[in-house]
Amino acid sequence: MSRNKSQQLVQEMYKNLIENMAMDARLNDEFMPPYAAEILAKISPRSRKTYDGSAIFIPDAIEGARVLDIGCGGGSLSFVLSKLVGPAGYVVGVDLSEKFIQLCQEETAYHMQEWGYSKPNCEFICSDVERLLDLQLEPFDEGGEFYNSDIFSDVEQCEEVKATPLFCCYGLSGAMVWSELKELTGQFGFSDPYLLYAADTFQFGTEKNKQDLRGVNYVCAVYRLVKLVPKTTGPAAIVIYNGKYENNKDFFKWDVDLTFKKDVPIKIDGYFASILAKTKYAKFFAIEKCINHVTLKRNQNPFNYLKKLREGGSAYPTPIFPMDEHHNKLYEDSIKNII
Ligand SMILES: C[S@@+](CC[C@H](N)C(=O)[O-])C[C@H]1O[C@@H](n2cnc3c(N)ncnc32)[C@H](O)[C@@H]1O
Repeated sequence: MSRNKSQQLVQEMYKNLIENMAMDARLNDEFMPPYAAEILAKISPRSRKTYDGSAIFIPDAIEGARVLDIGCGGGSLSFVLSKLVGPAGYVVGVDLSEKFIQLCQEETAYHMQEWGYSKPNCEFICSDVERLLDLQLEPFDEGGEFYNSDIFSDVEQCEEVKATPLFCCYGLSGAMVWSELKELTGQFGFSDPYLLYAADTFQFGTEKNKQDLRGVNYVCAVYRLVKLVPKTTGPAAIVIYNGKYENNKDFFKWDVDLTFKKDVPIKIDGYFASILAKTKYAKFFAIEKCINHVTLKRNQNPFNYLKKLREGGSAYPTPIFPMDEHHNKLYEDSIKNII
């Protein structure tokens, strides 16, 4: 399917869907701190209802930050971020759907009042993500973070799947093979991706839908990437979390494989040590160079990660977006006049 056609489909789908959406923006309970749920509960009913994400992931320690929310939809995440960055920070939400952008603009006053701000600290722009350069946004600072929350596949999809309008609308046709993210983002000066979260995707409508996917598996995953200028490396280090991050005094989670406990030294490899030292989290750690050679194993494959959880009997993430028959029908109806 051509890019124009898929864009047209997405725009048209949300135009028809938006008034009938009855979702509820949800955090992933398994790992989100309580303060995040309290903020989400204050999001306006319209933004909550039009939530269409697979997991709301909230970055740590972003007060004063400038944040870009790509594919902001009805703004549930953008408005949570606008609270967390505070009046000195700024959030820009970008979406292809004019209807969503209009909704976010209409809901801005509600949230400014809710957060007690005298002027908005967020704006919403209707644009294709591929035209971001035209928006002339400020570039990433060194140590700035990119969170990629998306649907990934285990293998390359065949052209028929990519060309199926319903799969395009479910966000599957554009799914990247998880292992391709590292090379792609590396070209733009980002670190290796660190897997923060994964969950099964929603259930797809009918048996026929499942057969049409031809055995390709999908997963919702969130990766953390750090902007490096220039590409970073250095000596290994012994690192101790000082517990001074107010929202998580006892531990600090970096990715699915590494959670620092307060006052407990952990040896980390040189690459990761250099990255950590450049992030805004550096102030929460004592980082001492060490001469040992250290290699930390990272589980970047979300399919393996979920398989291990399943086999190990650990708490298994709930698919955050259960696609029941009612929702399936809404999606299918929303595009039936354009295919
Ligand atoms: C799965 S929804 C997620 C919406 C929102 N983040 C949420 O959690 O509710 C994906 C969003 O990306 C937008 N989108 C899809 N393709 C886009 C593109 N090329 N440029 C900008 N936005 C796009 C869609 O309009 C939709 O609002």
